[in-house]
Amino acid sequence: MKLFHVLAACVPAALLAGLAAPLWAEGNPAAGKQKTWTCEGCHGIPDYRTAYPDVKALQDYKSGARKNTTMRAIAARLSDQDMADIAAYYAGGGGN
Ligand code: HEC
Repeated sequence: MKLFHVLAACVPAALLAGLAAPLWAEGNPAAGKQKTWTCEGCHGIPDYRTAYPDVKALQDYKSGARKNTTMRAIAARLSDQDMADIAAYYAGGGGN
């Protein structure tokens, strides 16, 4: 029975720790909103949510798999975390 008590105490703590510290690749919509102000000049009006809540296009511009000089230059400045945040914002995750 002792082992059971140890497990009962540890498992919820582990779950809580998991919630408090999301994976690094998890996008943060609020941070994404901050990072999209440069995009709006070309991609639309403020708070307009574009139709591409996907990091793939940005990663492809960065890697060169997708060729467009303008977006290549922009994507090259974004980290994976930036892209995840921007995608989370565009996905409508509560950026407002
Ligand atoms: C200087 C103008 C300009 C700025 C600033 C800009 N973009 Fe773009 N973006 C473009 C153009 C032009 C295209 C179309 C490129 C193509 O045809 O592949 C594009 C395409 C894209 C696409 C692909 C859309 C699709 O239909 O697949 C994504 C995603 C994107 N931009 C995201 C962003 C993000 C995020 C930012 C801000 C960090 C940004 N862009 C800033 C001009 C811009």
